[in-house]
Amino acid sequence: MQSLKISLYEILLSLANAQDLALPEITLHHQQVADLSLRLAREAGLPLADQKDIYMAALVHDIGALSMRERFELIEGTAFNMHTHAVRGAKLLESFPPLRRVASLVRYHHTYWNNGAGAKDKGCPIEVGSHLIHLADRICIKLKPTKNILSQVPDILAFLNEQKGTMFMPELVDLVADAGRKEDFWLDITNRLPGQEYRQNLMRDYYLMDIEDLVELSKIFSHIIDFRSKFTARHSAGVAKIAERLAQLVGFSAVECRMMLVAGYLHDLGKLAISDEVLEKPSKLTIDEYNEIRAHTYYTYRLLEPIAELRTINEWASYHHEKLNGKGYPFHLAGDQIPLGARVMAAADVFTAVSETRPYRKPMPKEDVIAVMRNMVENGSLDGRVVDILLANIDELHTLCLVEQEKAGQEYEEFLAHS
Ligand SMILES: [Fe+2]
Ligand SMILES: [Fe+2]
Ligand SMILES: [Fe+2]
Repeated sequence: MQSLKISLYEILLSLANAQDLALPEITLHHQQVADLSLRLAREAGLPLADQKDIYMAALVHDIGALSMRERFELIEGTAFNMHTHAVRGAKLLESFPPLRRVASLVRYHHTYWNNGAGAKDKGCPIEVGSHLIHLADRICIKLKPTKNILSQVPDILAFLNEQKGTMFMPELVDLVADAGRKEDFWLDITNRLPGQEYRQNLMRDYYLMDIEDLVELSKIFSHIIDFRSKFTARHSAGVAKIAERLAQLVGFSAVECRMMLVAGYLHDLGKLAISDEVLEKPSKLTIDEYNEIRAHTYYTYRLLEPIAELRTINEWASYHHEKLNGKGYPFHLAGDQIPLGARVMAAADVFTAVSETRPYRKPMPKEDVIAVMRNMVENGSLDGRVVDILLANIDELHTLCLVEQEKAGQEYEEFLAHS
């Protein structure tokens, strides 16, 4: 595990897929824009290093639009300020050093060419890649999924021509006009068929992360998951720290504890597919709403599944609502089928959830926390040994949770301030 190497490309692909799950209107929007951007970068003859960064940036370009409402406004073109999500996305990404350039490409993905003024921002050059992603994004937004794509080409080219020089860099509009004479240019945008070899070969070794890189990156993921709502803004940060410390108390090795921290940051990844209304509902959920929530660990599992190196972390993360008695979800695993790491995660999740403020209730006092957790052991939901260790260290863990959530709260305020 020390020599663990995980592809940054593959994990960002999971994140892009997670974001796109939520809105049927834009299924695969990020992948579409990324594929089209890469095609344009290739047609423009840009160096391979640029092609890779442009692909990566396009894959996560709207990552700063956290709530579904915000993302929907972007598609509808009703967003109050198109730059807010671009700047927020850049802020999130640039805190991970290997993504600095990608972050700056994201920052300017809605900058107009404005007759050349858009080549710079306060004297700093804006890369062609940003203008290229902007163009690719607008093309994808214009496409109607129900209409034949080739029939839409004349309208799209007319729109690009109209905006040539104002919205879009003229050379890029010419590039689309030229490359767009070939049908495959358009058909590749809307078809997700196997055989995208060029991209796979290009991206495979984009940047290989070790476990500490993964800790840093998954912390950014946890912000993307949590910052959607003020009620969840600190949740994953708390769960991650509690799970890491609890794993240590249970006797996990140093590397396994770091893996547990990652699993904690990622455990609610599938919540990106849950609507804002359900996530923030202050009252009891209806059956439909509960069914929507119940799918979140399924999504976490399937999103991380393609990354073979993350298998153990995925199981610890995604099985956190499984129960020893087999009555959990979504796989109904029972007893030995639930690894110890997942039992630690389940206990950490419950402990953090009852200790924090939710839309429908205040934090529980310590005696109630103890009673709830003991009860969950008795009814076969949680592991008795893990809960005993947790309760034996309850004050330390409670403080740790508070400190970590306080930090996450500050990071949330800072995030909101950047726009
Ligand atoms: Fe955008
Ligand atoms: Fe959960
Ligand atoms: Fe959770």
